[in-house]
Amino acid sequence: MAPLWIVFASGMVLMLLSSCFLNLIHNDATLRFFGNQPTYACADGFLSSFKEFPFCNTSLSIGDRVDDLVGRLTLSEKIQLLVSEAAGVPRLGVPPYQWWQEALHGVAVSPGVHFMAPIPAATSFPQVILTAASFNATLWNEIGKAVSTEGRAMYNSGLSGLTFWSPNINIFRDPRWGRGQETPGEDPLLASRYAASYVKGLQDGDYEGINGTEPSVISTPAFSQVVTNRTGPKRLKVSACCKHFTAYDMENSGGTDAFHFNAQVTVQDLEDTYNAPFKACVQDGGVSCIMCSYNRLNGVPTCADYNLLTNTIQQKWRLDGYIVSDCDAVAIINDYFHYAPTPEDAVSEVLKAGLDLNCGTYIARHAQKAIDEGKLSEVNIDEALSKLVSVQMRLGLFDGNPQNHRYGMLGPEAVCTNEHQHLALEAARQSIVLLKNEGGLLPLSKKNTRTLALIGPHGNASDAMLGNYAGIPCKFITPTQGLQAYGTVFSEPGCMNVSCEELQFLDEALEVVKKVDAIVLIVGLDENQEKEGHDRKSLLLPGQQETLVITVAAAAAAENHPVIVVVMCGGPVDISFAKDNVNISSILWIGYPGEAGGEALAQILYGDYNPGGRVPVTWYPQEFVKVSMLDMHMRPNETSEYPGRTYRFYTGKTVYDFGYGKSFTTFLSSFVLAPGTIYGKKLVRQLASFQTSPFSLGFVRDSTSKLDVEDASCDHYNIDVTLNVTNTGNREGSHVLLLYAKPPTSVKGSPKKYLVAFERIHLQAKESKNVVFWIVPCRDLALVQGEGKKVLYSGVYTLTVDKAEHSLVLILDS
Ligand SMILES: *[C@@H]1O[C@H](CO)[C@@H](O)[C@H](O)[C@H]1NC(C)=O
Ligand SMILES: *[C@@H]1O[C@H](CO)[C@@H](O)[C@H](O)[C@H]1NC(C)=O
Ligand SMILES: *[C@@H]1O[C@H](CO)[C@@H](O)[C@H](O)[C@H]1NC(C)=O
Ligand SMILES: *[C@@H]1O[C@H](CO)[C@@H](O)[C@H](O)[C@H]1NC(C)=O
Ligand SMILES: *[C@@H]1O[C@H](CO)[C@@H](O)[C@H](O)[C@H]1NC(C)=O
Ligand SMILES: *[C@@H]1O[C@H](CO)[C@@H](O)[C@H](O)[C@H]1NC(C)=O
Ligand SMILES: *[C@@H]1O[C@H](CO)[C@@H](O)[C@H](O)[C@H]1NC(C)=O
Ligand SMILES: *[C@@H]1O[C@H](CO)[C@@H](O)[C@H](O)[C@H]1NC(C)=O
Ligand SMILES: *[C@@H]1O[C@H](CO)[C@@H](O)[C@H](O)[C@H]1NC(C)=O
Repeated sequence: MAPLWIVFASGMVLMLLSSCFLNLIHNDATLRFFGNQPTYACADGFLSSFKEFPFCNTSLSIGDRVDDLVGRLTLSEKIQLLVSEAAGVPRLGVPPYQWWQEALHGVAVSPGVHFMAPIPAATSFPQVILTAASFNATLWNEIGKAVSTEGRAMYNSGLSGLTFWSPNINIFRDPRWGRGQETPGEDPLLASRYAASYVKGLQDGDYEGINGTEPSVISTPAFSQVVTNRTGPKRLKVSACCKHFTAYDMENSGGTDAFHFNAQVTVQDLEDTYNAPFKACVQDGGVSCIMCSYNRLNGVPTCADYNLLTNTIQQKWRLDGYIVSDCDAVAIINDYFHYAPTPEDAVSEVLKAGLDLNCGTYIARHAQKAIDEGKLSEVNIDEALSKLVSVQMRLGLFDGNPQNHRYGMLGPEAVCTNEHQHLALEAARQSIVLLKNEGGLLPLSKKNTRTLALIGPHGNASDAMLGNYAGIPCKFITPTQGLQAYGTVFSEPGCMNVSCEELQFLDEALEVVKKVDAIVLIVGLDENQEKEGHDRKSLLLPGQQETLVITVAAAAAAENHPVIVVVMCGGPVDISFAKDNVNISSILWIGYPGEAGGEALAQILYGDYNPGGRVPVTWYPQEFVKVSMLDMHMRPNETSEYPGRTYRFYTGKTVYDFGYGKSFTTFLSSFVLAPGTIYGKKLVRQLASFQTSPFSLGFVRDSTSKLDVEDASCDHYNIDVTLNVTNTGNREGSHVLLLYAKPPTSVKGSPKKYLVAFERIHLQAKESKNVVFWIVPCRDLALVQGEGKKVLYSGVYTLTVDKAEHSLVLILDS
């Protein structure tokens, strides 16, 4: 295929993708020709001897092929393979490989991805924070499949590699975080399911939770029951990477940035919050890569932490894949943290800790000297390299020309297909959240709303609809274009841009208000407010946006015209002023809705789609900014008046709660069948069927009766919780069932409540369904103790769904 690869000029990479913040990577803005070298390893048509190496022989096991290749390399060749721009090995016909590709919500602009003929664009799905709001794991899996199809097609056309460093699954713990938009939100279960479903979609797995066709009774495993497969798929469609491990969660605040940040995290918070999605990504998603972060964790740079990389990811979770550093995270260990005395020490520390690949060049530059000085041994290099090559083999990078691969038929026609573009629309409309709808103003009547004023700086939003880590979209449907499909639209910005320092165009806006049937104000944020490298300082709308909304809404009220406020942003904004304003009937949150955002918005405003999204983060009031961004505690502290973070712990006021979202119809849920009491004996008896003597199983039960679930492994015992859900309105719609548990009040430091399971279901008008959740008490109800141990406590657990409650009593000592 295309015999040339283009390396971005470093300025371009820096501009479009600031992950390489320090930009120590040497990019030469040149076209590289390989002369008479093949573009693909083990390719046809070159020296036939290339193909005849055992590492090219697909009949052999991957382990044998890896050993063969690694065994043929010299030390200096090996060292040059441990960096993101891996060198080629011309004498073996192995071309260079760029490991760095991104695919957060579509194949994205990144060093290894080249948008050019014959594939100048790819489907751009909504930014992840919005897609998370669908609470639909099938959707996340479908998006992963579409993205990997497009990634493979670009690879087959010589325009991309196959290792994508996505998704970002850090817990969104502070509303100001500039990269919160990239994540699936603040809840560990939500983030875990998102990670596993999306990763499986990318790497080649179906989401096994639900079948697609909905039976009247849904058996919903609470997660990881059916999905668990502790090794990843043998063959990979593309390789995904869960990042940034761990406790990253901030860009810059109070004079500290992520490259200097030492996250002080308790073992309890690490276990039940920060690490939880990563564990699920490895164990349930079978991911083939984890990226360690820039920050230090309790003093130790994460990329140099043996306990994190080797003990936790590799040995405990059993990652089948490689660990990569965030870009230049190895260099900063020495340059910024001064954690290692010399570059050679930094390189030795990370490789011995379990790192396999350096995004950057540091290892390539310093490993040889580290070995010469006796700080590192070749065995360390071989171990890292074997893991890298193994992933490349699973991808088929040593199977010769891409056409030989089972995905070899994917070409340009597989990209930006109608199906994929429809999925981008579907993702946006499933996810958009209706926050307010006084008097059922929405949906707008198509007959009576022929003219519309669209006021605010986002009326013609295009790039802003994508959010960061985006690609080049197939096309855009802006808000104005989307609404034009339903009537005449008068679009007025009100101010110059989203920063909205002055209301230069207020008069024009007030003028159109008089001549239309309804007013839509479209406001919010863009990358000038929140992005990588930039956290917000305020939770309010920027500049004069609030004044614009209040003034226009008052003018509209004077004309008796309805007003809808649409907020485009990733992180939450304090819009209490609009929530409480009687002149504003409705509010929608549309995240950064992707290439089809305007169409999705219009379909919802005019009732062609009934919204069912729920906010995946707490919407905090402005006063939250007094909390230090550097404080990583999840739990509140009364003495220091620290309010805690996320719905699980936060004790202050909210603007909107996690999980909030309305519909054009109404739903009623009730518990129909669920056990009232579970006795410890039952859990024990369950174990007894596997082993003869239940009391000799290391089953830890102390006098106050709690069960160490990690030792007891009682996750074979599950209970059914059956709900009846009825659509009590006159319109079909989707309803997100969020099953929470409130733990016994006697348990100190426990969350106020926590999500145990969730599922999105669809109901026709007046239809009702029974939904069965399988709950595994030892897994789903257990809590993490202060010292990091997961235990199941005796006591009363209150299960809630919507307004329904059910008490479940656990009596473990009888
Ligand atoms: C590939 O390996 C198989 C199994 O060892 C062997 O039978 C076959 O001859 C090898 N093929 C080549 C081309 O060397
Ligand atoms: C999927 O459907 C098949 C056939 O109807 C059924 O046997 C299987 O249990 C279903 N799987 C899940 C996870 O619901
Ligand atoms: C688990 O992985 C094995 C080995 O790759 C595979 O054969 C099996 O189908 C997988 N099972 C599931 C449920 O994905
Ligand atoms: C959108 O573009 C149209 C046509 O260029 C222009 O008239 C209108 O003022 C713009 N609206 C906004 C909100 O910038
Ligand atoms: C926004 O508009 C103002 C003028 O009101 C201008 O000074 C500023 O540079 C613009 N900001 C951006 C990011 O374009
Ligand atoms: C609502 O609109 C009316 C009529 O224009 C105005 O008098 C009032 O101040 C507005 N209320 C708010 C909260 O802005
Ligand atoms: C709570 O805050 C106080 C005062 O700052 C501090 O002394 C104490 O250690 C904190 N407690 C915890 C559990 O962090
Ligand atoms: C979940 O997403 C899938 C894929 O887009 C869709 O087919 C299904 O209808 C969605 N489920 C609900 C309940 O909206
Ligand atoms: C659910 O409850 C409603 C209202 O009580 C009832 O009419 C309906 O039959 C129940 N549905 C199922 C599937 O049991």
